[in-house]
Order: sequence, then structure tokens, then C-alpha cells
Amino acid sequence: MHIARTLTDLRAAVAALRASHGPIALVPTMGALHDGHRALVRAAVTSGAAVVTSIFVNPLQFGASEDLSRYPRDEAGDLAILEACGCALVWMPDVATMYPPGDATTITVTGPAQNWEGAARPGHFRGVATVCAKLFGQVRPDRAYFGEKDWQQLQVIRRMVDDLALPLSIVAVETVREPDGVAMSSRNRFLSETERVRAPLLHALLTETARAVAGGRDASRALTSARNRLTDGGFVVDYFALVDGSMLTEIPTIAPDARLIAAARLGLVRLLDNVAA
Ligand code: PAF
Repeated sequence: MHIARTLTDLRAAVAALRASHGPIALVPTMGALHDGHRALVRAAVTSGAAVVTSIFVNPLQFGASEDLSRYPRDEAGDLAILEACGCALVWMPDVATMYPPGDATTITVTGPAQNWEGAARPGHFRGVATVCAKLFGQVRPDRAYFGEKDWQQLQVIRRMVDDLALPLSIVAVETVREPDGVAMSSRNRFLSETERVRAPLLHALLTETARAVAGGRDASRALTSARNRLTDGGFVVDYFALVDGSMLTEIPTIAPDARLIAAARLGLVRLLDNVAA
């Protein structure tokens, strides 16, 4: 496994991989890798591509009130995981490489980026879209892998790739969960013991509500009940909503491609999850 830290090194390593291997798959990450990332890398390896994983904690997607310095980092642990998963090349740029002096271009996606995370974290998706566009330009992969756990992010990236006719396809990988249903996330490590005991309620209510609505229960009542039960369970609910799966607009009742999405806080940790509805 090769580690590239400069653009010159990256370009040479990608060219060599393309010559020896053919298709290139990119797995963009911010490090602090867990089983969810392992699933992305393994899916990319299984597809037959040479896999490039980027590790870059992107300052542009953190808001002023979000603690960038607190984001978990574990370079040695990440590299060991990637090596074991069959990753061929790790791209680890620094901030000056991604945002050099004079850098003046960012990407604003509207549509699916507007509500939910877009409203709760102004500028977040501008940061995500910009860094992904840069990574796509640097690595020039045939495909890039994203987890369904960040459902809205996945739709924003798909929209950007379609709108800008970028020459790659986006592959979605199912959310990886702990045995009790909690979606894997780098931020789970910040849950206290009590919060971790409470955390499974979010996924339990998403699945229960999806089943109830599919079975004919009034969606508005089912959503209100789920929000109340989360609050009773110690969560501060940001949203728990039934949406169109690609546009992320709220819908009153179940429809093809509907998704139940939720964000709720336990103490300082904001948990995100979603299920098909
Ligand atoms: O999902 C993430 O880890 C990040 O948002 C991403 C896609 C790597 C962009 O920084």
C-alpha cells in the first residue's frame, strides 16, 4: 500500500495503478476509520478496481460552532485498517494542498442540500461538495463509494456529479450497524456509557415508524409519536421526517423512494440515521 502526501506523488501513483490495474475506485474519508469505512473499501476492492482511500479532515465542512480540533484522528490505526482491507493507495493531503493560497472556488449545491443537515449546519454541504469535487479531480476515479448512513450527503454528491457531468459513477453502500442497531460513526466514541445505552432507540424508532407507515398508519401521527418517544428517551430531536429519497423534500405519506431520516442529539453527540420507508 502506497501513501501519497503530495499531488505529484499522488498523480504518479494513480497513473501506475491505472496502467497495472485498470479501473480506479475512490473512497473519500476523514479518517478515524470503523467498520462502516471497512465496508466501503471492501465493496470497492470486490468491484475489481484498484482502491484509493483519501484521508482528509476537511475544515470547510465544519461550522464555526463545530469543534474541528476535536474530530478524532488515528493515522496509524487507519493505515493498518486500509492495508488489511486491500486498499492500494492512501491519499493524505494537508490543508494547504487542498486549499492553497488564492483558492477561490467553492461548489454550492441547492436542491437536496437545502434542508435538514443543510439547514442545521450552514455551509456544511458547500464544504463537502467542494472537497469531493477536488478529490475527484485529483484522483480521477471511475467510481467513488459513499455510505448510506449520510443519506443526504450521498444525494448531494449524486446531484453534483450529474449536474457537472463529472466522469465517474457514485456507488452507495448500506449502513453498517452495531449488533443493537446503532449506525457506525466516528462520533459514537464520544457517547458516555448512559448515552450509548440510550442510542439504539433512534434506529429502533426509525424501523418501527417505517413499518407502521408502510402498514397504513397516518404518517404525521407516527412521526409525532416517534419524536415524543425520542425526547422521553433523553434525545434532543433536530428532525425525524419522511422525505423523498433523492430530493430530500418532506412528503406527507409513503411513496416509492421514500426515506425516513433523523438527526437527534444525546448530550454533545449528534446521531444521524435513516431507513427506507
Ligand atoms: O463522509 C465523510 O467522511 C466526509 O463528509 C467526506 C465525504 C469524506 C468529505 O469530507
